[in-house]
Amino acid sequence: MMQELALPDVYRFLEPGPVVLLTTAQNGKMNVMAMLWHMMVEFVPPRLACVVSNGDYSFAAMRAVGECVIAIPSVESASEVVAVGNVSGRDVDKFSAFGLTPVAAGRVSAPLIEECFANFECRVVDDSLVEAYGIFVLEVLAAWVDPEKENPKTLHHHGYGKFVVDGRSIHLKSKMP
Ligand SMILES: Cc1cc2nc3c(=O)[nH]c(=O)nc-3n(C[C@H](O)[C@H](O)[C@H](O)COP(=O)(O)O)c2cc1C
Repeated sequence: MMQELALPDVYRFLEPGPVVLLTTAQNGKMNVMAMLWHMMVEFVPPRLACVVSNGDYSFAAMRAVGECVIAIPSVESASEVVAVGNVSGRDVDKFSAFGLTPVAAGRVSAPLIEECFANFECRVVDDSLVEAYGIFVLEVLAAWVDPEKENPKTLHHHGYGKFVVDGRSIHLKSKMP
């Protein structure tokens, strides 16, 4: 027998992918936030959409500079991920407060994060949905992976502080690249 689900809990069942970190830089000041709501929208050039709330300090930098880095943390960084997602860069230098190491990017002003196993340098290519939904469409200009971080296990948010950690892999024949 089905039970009615509270509507605010719907998102927990459509978990879109790993929790990522989004870095920005504006007027020489770097910042980082946690981000869950993102989705790929194109293979080549790689494009993705993401939701950055207009209450976030990062929102202003995204609007003003139009650049960011999407950095993918593994489970080893779980407590830092939650920390940067629970305080604002308005009040705290989150890189030094939470021991994250910024690394200069090649194409954008926002920094890569050394502790993350993948870093994607992005430019905002469509902001027509920002006003209505907080959705920024990004194009990845350069992508980096750390070959020394083998078999990274990503974090997947299921709400209320519960995270699922990437599990075993299975390989099936599929036309999907
Ligand atoms: C696991 C997790 C996922 C989050 N996902 C998002 C998201 O997708 N979009 C968003 O706007 N905020 C998200 N947040 C909240 C921001 O990370 C949070 O408001 C942060 O403090 C904003 O930092 P800033 O003010 O320095 O930009 C998430 C937080 C956590 C802990």
